[in-house]
Amino acid sequence: MKFFVDTAEIDAIAELNDLGMVDGVTTNPSLIKKSGRDIIEVTKEICDLVDGPVSAEVTATDADTMIAEGRKLVEIAENIAVKVPLTWDGLKACKTLSDDGHMVNVTLCFSANQALLAAKAGATFISPFIGRLDDINLDGMELIADIRTIYDNYGFDTEILAASIRSVNHVLDSARLGADVMTAPPGVIKAMVNHPLTDKGLATFLADIAAADIKIL
Ligand code: G3P
Repeated sequence: MKFFVDTAEIDAIAELNDLGMVDGVTTNPSLIKKSGRDIIEVTKEICDLVDGPVSAEVTATDADTMIAEGRKLVEIAENIAVKVPLTWDGLKACKTLSDDGHMVNVTLCFSANQALLAAKAGATFISPFIGRLDDINLDGMELIADIRTIYDNYGFDTEILAASIRSVNHVLDSARLGADVMTAPPGVIKAMVNHPLTDKGLATFLADIAAADIKIL
């Protein structure tokens, strides 16, 4: 499973990238707003840091302007994936930009039918929003499973990018269901290391190291 980091915070991306945990980055207007940075400037900095795809989202809602924005975004770096919303105009922009040879991430996906349309429009990535479905008492994981089945049935090569990941269990369940990629905030990725038995076991080992005065260096 590829790990994308869902943030525009450079330090957090760099820390995970140094550990080999970053296969790409996703941003959106809310994350750019949170960073307080200029979209072009911060996106370029992220692209310089990370080898994999970096999603940068358009701001327009009509296809022509989305395409123009997408063409400007891809000038930032070769690893830009243009992010467009899952609307009819977004699908038109997806088709044009992917025909031009650019990576496109179709975002705000909440149904398997939407994902089917995105694949047919040539999306590189489809981003089903797990957490936001769970928020309204629906089942985000059911959506991942449905998209996996449909894409496999017909051999679509659009990658399923599980998004709106809020917990370590979202990561685990997405991996079990065969999502190609997951994007999560840095805190969720770092929380995956935690286990109370690891802490307990280490405490015992440290006590024995102290008691027996075990030294390696
Ligand atoms: O990857 C999409 C993500 O940024 C949205 O997450 O938690 O705002 O639903 P959330």
